[in-house]
Amino acid sequence: MRKIVILTGAGISAESGLGTFRAEGGLWAQHRIEDVATPEGFARDPKLVMDFYNARRAQAAAAAPNAGHEALARLEAGFSGEVVVVTQNVDDLHEKAGSEQVMHMHGALKGALCGTCDHRWPAPAVMHPGDTCPVCQAPTARPDIVWFGEMPYDMEEIFGHLSEADLFVSIGTSGNVYPAAGFVAEAKRQGAVTLEFNLEPSEVGSHFDDIRLGPATQTLPAWVDEILAS
Ligand code: OAD
Repeated sequence: MRKIVILTGAGISAESGLGTFRAEGGLWAQHRIEDVATPEGFARDPKLVMDFYNARRAQAAAAAPNAGHEALARLEAGFSGEVVVVTQNVDDLHEKAGSEQVMHMHGALKGALCGTCDHRWPAPAVMHPGDTCPVCQAPTARPDIVWFGEMPYDMEEIFGHLSEADLFVSIGTSGNVYPAAGFVAEAKRQGAVTLEFNLEPSEVGSHFDDIRLGPATQTLPAWVDEILAS
């Protein structure tokens, strides 16, 4: 086995205290997606959207990686082949744990993006509507988050990794949001073995060759021990 491609979702950060989206009482029970996670919502009420991501940025900054993130960093450091993490998460807990090859397909709370010229720069702790772009000076700064209706980042590169994967692993994602939810079928079509980690089988659970149920802080360290010993 030479290449492992890992897709992560909110479930891997849940035990670090960051809420998931679709759980009872989760983020999408407290906020309407169309209000805080669409370009139209931002155009209607930029302050509401900035406040939502300012709060999440502060929460993520205060959070520590857990044993699940740490296990994936240990895998990348110790595996003889290549390990690529593709995350839907906008926190930086994979990086804090030491993972180096991490792609943020839904953007990052640490980033700011200019709605006029597409320049990206490190976000301040608190962003305000009308903040200006350091390059074109337009007052159109926004969080560097991929909203519903927008194209996720790095898709070409990610599909390239999927086509080379010997093993595709999905961790803590419900399989509700495409294109990420389609990665398992694509990896399988290209010949990868597929493995899911979750508390309960996801929407796309039947596509996986194997499923390991349980909290990621327990299941991932045990799996990484197995891979590194084999
Ligand atoms: P969801 O909230 O949809 O799903 C979280 C998944 O994690 C569920 O399947 C849970 O069963 C699982 N889970 C929860 N705790 C876990 C634990 N301790 N160990 C293992 N699994 C656990 O979150 P995502 O699938 O990440 O996009 O959501 C995908 C996208 O939808 C997000 O990136 C976000 C959201 O709308 C945007 O905002 C663009």
